[in-house]
Amino acid sequence: STAERVDDLMSRLSVEDKAGQLTQYFYMASFGELPVDFDFEALPPEAQSFAKQPLMVKDAIAAGKAGSALFVKDAATANILQRKAVEESPHGIPLIFGYDVIHGFRTIFPVPIAQAASWDPEAVEAGQRIAAREARAVGIHWAFAPMVDIARDPRWGRIIEGAGEDPCLGSAIAAAQVRGFQGGVKGNAIGDESILAGPKHFAGYGAAVGGRDYDDADISDSELRNVYLPPFKAAVDAGAANLMSAYMDLNGVPASANRWLLNDVLRDEWGFTGWVVSDANAIRSLETQHHAKDLTDAGARGLHAGNDMEMCMFDPAFNRLPDAVAAGLVSEEELDASVRRVLTAKVELGLFEHPYADEDAVAAVLDAAEHRDAARASAEKTLVLLRNEGAALPLDADALGSIAVIGELADSPRDTLGPWVFDHDTDEAVSILAGIKERAGDGVTVEHVPGVKVEPRHFPSMFDRMDPTTPQTPEGHDDDAELARAIELAERSDVAVVVIGQRQNQIGENASAGTLELPGRQLEQLQALVATGTPVVALVMSGRPLDLRWANEHVPAILQVWYPGTRGGEAVASALFGDVSPAGRLPITWPRHVGQVPMYHNHYRTFQPEAQGQRYWDEESTPLYPFGHGLSYAAFSYADLRTPGTVAVGETATVSVAVTNDSSVDAEDVVQLYVHQRHGTSTRPIRELKGFRRVHVPAGETVTVEFELGPDQLRYWSAVTREWVQDATVLDVWAGGSSVAELATTLEITG
Ligand code: IFM
Repeated sequence: STAERVDDLMSRLSVEDKAGQLTQYFYMASFGELPVDFDFEALPPEAQSFAKQPLMVKDAIAAGKAGSALFVKDAATANILQRKAVEESPHGIPLIFGYDVIHGFRTIFPVPIAQAASWDPEAVEAGQRIAAREARAVGIHWAFAPMVDIARDPRWGRIIEGAGEDPCLGSAIAAAQVRGFQGGVKGNAIGDESILAGPKHFAGYGAAVGGRDYDDADISDSELRNVYLPPFKAAVDAGAANLMSAYMDLNGVPASANRWLLNDVLRDEWGFTGWVVSDANAIRSLETQHHAKDLTDAGARGLHAGNDMEMCMFDPAFNRLPDAVAAGLVSEEELDASVRRVLTAKVELGLFEHPYADEDAVAAVLDAAEHRDAARASAEKTLVLLRNEGAALPLDADALGSIAVIGELADSPRDTLGPWVFDHDTDEAVSILAGIKERAGDGVTVEHVPGVKVEPRHFPSMFDRMDPTTPQTPEGHDDDAELARAIELAERSDVAVVVIGQRQNQIGENASAGTLELPGRQLEQLQALVATGTPVVALVMSGRPLDLRWANEHVPAILQVWYPGTRGGEAVASALFGDVSPAGRLPITWPRHVGQVPMYHNHYRTFQPEAQGQRYWDEESTPLYPFGHGLSYAAFSYADLRTPGTVAVGETATVSVAVTNDSSVDAEDVVQLYVHQRHGTSTRPIRELKGFRRVHVPAGETVTVEFELGPDQLRYWSAVTREWVQDATVLDVWAGGSSVAELATTLEITG
C-alpha cells in the first residue's frame, strides 16, 4: 500500500534527508541555460549568484537536499534534473515539478478573470484540462493554480488572476479549475494527462491594503469566513491535492505562520489531507517580516504552522529544520508528518515508476490544433458587451467598405496573451487586428494605425526581465504625429475600432496601479476619434476595470475583451461581426473612478439605506457597471419568478424563473439569482449571489431555469455567535441578468 511504501522510505531517511524533501527550488535557468564554459567572474558581483543558482540547484538535488523544483518548462531539462534525483541522490527519490499553469501552458486561454466572466464552469474546467495535458507532457506534475483569492480592489494587479469579487461565483470557478487540472480525480492519484491543483494564496492576499501587492490584509472573521475562504473550501472539496499559503500578514500574523488557518481551519475543520507549499521565499521572509528571530526560527514556525514545503530561490529556512528539531523548536513528529504528505503525493502520482517525461511525445501534444480551437471557443465566451447604444454592434461586413483599427494593443500578439505565460509562442497568437482582417474578408479595407503610445510602467516589472517578448513602443515614436494619423484614418473609414487599455505587464503580480486611468493619451485619442463623426467601437483590453466614464457617455459600443489568449483576435472578430453574441458578465463591480474602490455588490444596507446612492457629495456612489452586467445582441426578459413561499430552516426551496429571448438572434444568457435577508442574528449584505446558470435561449423561445436555496446557500458565519447559523427570516429574492435585477419575490424561512 502507499502507506507501507512511505513508511519504508521514511525508515531510511535522516533528518537532513527529510528536510530536503520539504525544499522546493526555483530553477532559474529555465529562461536560458548558460553554456558550460560560462565566465561567471565577468558578471557584476550581484548578478553572479543568480547566474550560478541553477548549478547550486543541481548540486542540491544530487545531494538529496531538494524534493521539488519549479519553473522547469521543457521535458529535456525536467529529465536532466530528474536523473540527478533518481540516479545520484542518496535515496533516489524523484522530484515533483510545479509550475504556474495559470491560463494555459503553450496554448494560452483568456486570463482567469476573463474565464470567470464566462460564468461557465464547464468551459473553465475544459480549458484547464487542456492546460494540464500540455503541462504534463513536458514533465510538470502540479499547477500553482487556481488563484482563488477574492479581490474587491482593482488597483491590486492580481485581480486578473482570480474570479473576481464574489464567493458564490468564485467557489464554482475554483472547483471547476480543480476538476479540470486533476481530471475530476480527488487527491494525488490522477491520470497521466492531468496535473495536481494547488489553489492559492491561503488566505486573504486579495485584500492587500490600498491594493498594494504584498501589503498586509486586515479582514474580520466574518468577512474571512463568508467572503474570502469559501472558494478555498470549494477547491478543497473538489479534491485539490495541494494548497499554497500566502506571503503577506493577515490580521497581524504572516499567513505562512498562521497555524489557525493552515491547521485548525484547513486540516481539522475542512479535512484537507494534501500538502501545503509556501509562496516564494515566504518562510524565509518570516524573518524579514520581523515575526521570526532568525532563519532557524522561521523554518520551525513555518513548519509548525502547517507548511509542508518551502518554495525558495536560495538558502531555504527549511535547510535549518535539523537544527530546529535539535533545539526543540519543532518536533520530529511534525517534520515526519510533512514528509509523509510529500512522499504520499510522489507515490500516488506514480513518480517512482514513471519519473521521466517522454521527450518524443511532447511536440504532438503542444501542437494539437484542437487545443487552439478550444482556446478560441473559450475566448468567445468571455467577452462582455458593456454598452451598445443604437445597436452599434454587430458590424455588418457586407455594408462596410473600410475599417480603421486603432491602437498599439490592437496589433500586439504578446499583449493579446496576457501576463503569467512563460511557454507561449507569440508567433501563433492572433492579434485583434489579424482577427478583424481575416473575418472582414477581401471586400473590406482594414487599415491600422498604432496611435498614441500606451505609456509604459514607471517601474519595470520583475517579469519583464524574464520575458524578452514584452512589447515596447518603437524608437522614434511621436505621439502627436500618431494621433494625427489615427484621426486621418478614422475620417476616411466607415467605422473606427479602437483598442484601449493596458499592456499585459501593467497588471498581474507586482503590477498594482494607483489609478484606473487609461495610460498615456489614450482618452484624448478616443475623444478625437469620436469627434471625427465616424462611428467608434471601443474594445477594452485590460484585466481590471478602468475609468470609462467619458467613453460610457460618448462611445456607442464598448466591448470588454480582457487579454483573450492565443486565438483571441478571432474570438473578438466573431463577436464584432455578430457570428456569436457576447454573453460574458462582469465578475467584478466596475467603479466610475478609483476614489470609489473598494466597491462590490455584496456590501451592507447599513444606516440610511435610502441615501445609499449619495454617499459622496462629488460623485455618485453607484458603479459605472454593476456586478453581473453584460449586454447581448439578443433581448432577454424574465418572468414567473416562483418560490414555494415558505420553507423551514434546514430545508431546500426550489426557485424557478422563466427567461425569454424576445429577439430574432439565438444567444446565451447568464441568469442570476440574488437574495437579501431582512432580519436575523447578524445583518447580511444588501444582495448576495446564490446561483447562476449560463443557458442557450433560441430566438423567440422561453427557457425555465431552476435554482436551489437551502442551508448550503443560506447559512453564514455570524460574528455574534461565532459559528455558522441559518436564521428563520424573510428573504427578498431577485432573478435576472445582473446584480440590479428587478424581478423580485420573497421566501419565508420558518424556525
Ligand atoms: O505561484 C507563484 C505565486 O502565485 C506568486 N509567487 C511565485 C509563485 C511561483 O511562481
